[in-house]
Amino acid sequence: MKIEILPSLLAADFGRLADEILRAEASGAEALHLDIMDAHFVPNLSFGPDVVALAKRTAPGFYRNVHLMMSRPDLYLEKFAAAGAETIQVHVEADCNLHVELKRIRELGLKNAIVLNPETPVERLAPYLDEIDEALVMTVHPGYGGQQFIAECLPKVTWLRERRPELDIMVDGGVNGETAVLAAKAGANQFVAGSYLFKQSDMAKAVSCLRSSVSLA
Ligand code: DX5
Ligand code: ZN
Repeated sequence: MKIEILPSLLAADFGRLADEILRAEASGAEALHLDIMDAHFVPNLSFGPDVVALAKRTAPGFYRNVHLMMSRPDLYLEKFAAAGAETIQVHVEADCNLHVELKRIRELGLKNAIVLNPETPVERLAPYLDEIDEALVMTVHPGYGGQQFIAECLPKVTWLRERRPELDIMVDGGVNGETAVLAAKAGANQFVAGSYLFKQSDMAKAVSCLRSSVSLA
């Protein structure tokens, strides 16, 4: 499986957002992870399609992976697609018909993904396994960066890997040099890291260390 490292823009310095997007791109990471929070699905607000559009304008060739922590992602798919999202991730716990919305994301010409909160059993993904390009297993309760990795979520990664050997499986939340190795051993191949990467003075070095340690796992 192709290993991918995704800095989460949530941990960037919002006063210098364009520079931070360029720093993430120059780090050699495969994609930028953009966390959209609606203050309803999660108890926090982040940013909307304008920041996705800023990322596209600033670094057009840097892939945009958009994580919708929203109760009604279905109302915003076109807006995020128009802003430049390339993968759209929707939560299995969201208040919409996922069979319909996963199909709509593909019809917009994008890749789709389903996201699973820590307390949600992985079996909830069973009906969608043939309809997804990627699965995201949350390793923190979504809403904030800088939280501690919940290792108890990792058997879900293994469950998915056993059923879909070629699926892109991502982990998000509390990922650092040590926890990424645990996730890789469980079967993950895509790693979102916010605070761990953005706090580095040399992000490129951290990305390459992360990549080597998960490749050896
Ligand atoms: C959590 C977000 C994450 C977050 C990760 O609600 O979905 O993407 O930015 O941040 P860290 O890596 O700091 O846990
Ligand atoms: Zn995220």
